[in-house]
Amino acid sequence: MPRQSSQNTSKRLSQYADRYRLTIPEAQIELPSFAEEVSTGLSAAERSLPCRFFYDEIGSKIFEEICDLEEYYLTRVERMLLRERAADIAGHFDQGATLVEFGSGSAGKTRVLLEALLAAQASLVYVPIDISRSAIEESAEALLREHPRLSVHAVCGEYETALTVLGNHDSTPRLVLWLGSSVGNLHKPQAADFLMKVRAGMAASDRLLIGIDLRKNRERLERAYDDSLGVTARFNKNLLTRINRELGADFSPEQFEFRAHYHEDSGCVESSLVSLRDQSVQVAELGQSFAFQQGDKIHTENSYKYSLQEIDELAALSQMRCETRWLDDDDEYSVNLFAPV
Ligand code: AVI
Repeated sequence: MPRQSSQNTSKRLSQYADRYRLTIPEAQIELPSFAEEVSTGLSAAERSLPCRFFYDEIGSKIFEEICDLEEYYLTRVERMLLRERAADIAGHFDQGATLVEFGSGSAGKTRVLLEALLAAQASLVYVPIDISRSAIEESAEALLREHPRLSVHAVCGEYETALTVLGNHDSTPRLVLWLGSSVGNLHKPQAADFLMKVRAGMAASDRLLIGIDLRKNRERLERAYDDSLGVTARFNKNLLTRINRELGADFSPEQFEFRAHYHEDSGCVESSLVSLRDQSVQVAELGQSFAFQQGDKIHTENSYKYSLQEIDELAALSQMRCETRWLDDDDEYSVNLFAPV
């Protein structure tokens, strides 16, 4: 059931019927439910909760706060690179392009690219792919209002579902965006596996523009993931509050401490919640209780960082090559244009 604001947005979108369509693929890839994942994750010897559950309505708002933090440089630097390089990126498509975006959310960073493409072609189709229908509709409405030569052909679903859509296309080259270093939330072999599937849906003239955070010193990384205002701690603890609300649990979030630790060997910032005392938590909906000893950890997220060589290896593993790469002056973050080989 869409939220109220989204129902109004859906109505307003009907005025753009000739330029807007939303596809919700019938054959959605079935991922385990929240209840199933909580039960499995908290029963395991090494406890964990999947990071995809961070993004309920509250978690998505907290994530926006993270993106505005000075210490979380990723969003700011990526946005700056896209702003400075939008014309160069669009310049790779002299015959024009369709813009496809995985995890488009509010499409905040997409605008500059969209405008750069529109400056060079008569019309543009933008294909945002996101799990949140309200995020798609709200951003589509704003973009359609501002850009009369733009059409939005949105897809609502998980990434894996969206991959099935990537294979259906006309002959216009596509610029596929995967921004925000979201690839970092996958283990490195899974990242290559996912990109292989993206590659399988790409034609020779298509390109993937992928934002990837780079390896750097521990202090900078651990501050980015454990900020001084405690926003990221709140983002992680919202997982416990969500379990309380949706599954009738009695977690006391203040009895857990948030930690972010950088493993230099693997390049992974590991986030976790650590029990501050011996405690037992009941989850009514599951009919299960979970005992925690002081120091027991619930793993919540991996954020892998890459060297430039690792990025080239990732491209090669997914049968692509890095055609062009843009870095900021401090070599903190990379935006890479991958081409199929
Ligand atoms: C969405 N993802 C790429 C973010 C990251 O950097 O791993 C999520 C995040 N977690 C803590 N801060 C931001």
